[in-house]
Amino acid sequence: MTDSPAVTPSTAAQERRSCTKAPTAPPATLFLFGANGDLVKRLLIPSLYNLLRDGLLDDRTQIIGVDHNPNSDEGFADRLEAFIRDQAEAKGKSRDEALDADLWGQLRGRIRYLQGDFLEDATYQAVGERIAQADTDNAVFYLATAARFFGDVAERLGKAGLLEEREDAYRRLVVEKPFGADLASAQALNQRLLANMEEKQIYRIDHYLGKETVQNILVSRFSNALFESFWNNHYIDHVQITAAETVGVESRGDFYEKTGTLRDMVPNHLFQLLAMVAMEPPASFNATSVRDEKAKVVGAIRPQTTEEALANSVRGQYAAGTMNDKPVKGYREEERVDPESQTETYVALKLFVDNWRWAGVPFYLRTGKRLTARDTEIAICFKHAPYAQFRDTKIDRMRPNYLIIQIQPDEGMWFDFHAKRPGPLVELENIRMGFAYSDFFEMQPSTGYETLIYDSLIGDQTLFQRADNIENGWRAVQPFLDAWQQGGAVESYAAGSAGPAGADELLQKDGRSWHPLT
Ligand code: BG6
Repeated sequence: MTDSPAVTPSTAAQERRSCTKAPTAPPATLFLFGANGDLVKRLLIPSLYNLLRDGLLDDRTQIIGVDHNPNSDEGFADRLEAFIRDQAEAKGKSRDEALDADLWGQLRGRIRYLQGDFLEDATYQAVGERIAQADTDNAVFYLATAARFFGDVAERLGKAGLLEEREDAYRRLVVEKPFGADLASAQALNQRLLANMEEKQIYRIDHYLGKETVQNILVSRFSNALFESFWNNHYIDHVQITAAETVGVESRGDFYEKTGTLRDMVPNHLFQLLAMVAMEPPASFNATSVRDEKAKVVGAIRPQTTEEALANSVRGQYAAGTMNDKPVKGYREEERVDPESQTETYVALKLFVDNWRWAGVPFYLRTGKRLTARDTEIAICFKHAPYAQFRDTKIDRMRPNYLIIQIQPDEGMWFDFHAKRPGPLVELENIRMGFAYSDFFEMQPSTGYETLIYDSLIGDQTLFQRADNIENGWRAVQPFLDAWQQGGAVESYAAGSAGPAGADELLQKDGRSWHPLT
């Protein structure tokens, strides 16, 4: 989105820039299992730093990294610090200014390291001792490990009695993605977790729900009567949900070969966007009401037969191409990728939500790597206005109206509609009216994980996935996984392009086209 007309913020808007301060979260010991992994240094520690900056972490909160490699408190903190400074330098910023000395000093002072094998009881005994020594009995166990350890760590925490809550002490488990690799494995993992704790203790992360723009979908939809009046199959022709990335698989060839784009992006991130757009109004914004409605709408996605799934899906894989005038290699040439790999790096799907609001409205989803632009958006395409008055009007084709919810980058919302071009004749022009976040709000640097970590500390599950939501997502995706075992093939697209030709054909055969990637 580059050509959005800037809305000049009024003085009143300037006043809205500073938001009301949220209360400091209760104290807790936060155990980061998988402390030496990428997520901790790249996202979790920077998020905790931002939470501290915003005064949202209690002074008694400690952060304990747990992993199998030997290390000390100092060594672990040094490693995190070096990574953050290296990152800043790689982005052309100053190493020294990457961290505020005082703030980092405060956070560093709370960081500890615990060496332990995830599969050994001694580790959990040591975790228990750390809790006993802490100033608080509250504990959050954050599973930032490889997915194969999720069930084992949860079971061992349970066996060691560490998941037993008291009125004055909570115990919570945060689980990263991927949550299962298909319906059966997601159900099995849910069963293992629920055998050791209650649903109210489980925080299944989908980092898309940490994004302000995603949370704003519900606020915009349900606080403005305007939107509800047209939010249905009487006015909406179809919905497009896009998560286009410019990055390739980077160093994750191993993971990606086993996972592919469908599993990596659709039942989680794309379905969260679909749920936010398509759900019915919840009775309130509390976790139960919101999650009830989300589970219902994802559960209403029509299960497809093998033939339907093959006709309504496109798999792509990037081949060598050019990005920003530089040659980039194809997926099969990436490290730790089979040179004959059939794994998809792009997927487009056509889905239906079988309920009264959406009957007959297709939802087209697409996501892929090494595409022409980074663009995560929801495009709501309206039905055509009747042409009667405009038969003789000078315009090649009246475009449908769109409401674009731009999730990232250049966060905002845009309406595309027609207006009369000034002059004596009736001539139509396609115009755009918009709201850019940056025009109205001061956005502090954030990773998107801040809200999620904060919510796990205060006990708000609204932005986390409940077991039924996860399973409904896999149930809707499973027919595609099964159908792909039986037929069809992955289609090649050049890195830097808009994706495989088949994805365009998927919409063309319905007389529609994708909203361009910008
Ligand atoms: C992750 C996927 O969950 O989401 C990655 O594993 C993907 O493959 C990433 O790149 C996209 O997240 P974002 O926030 O950059 O859109």
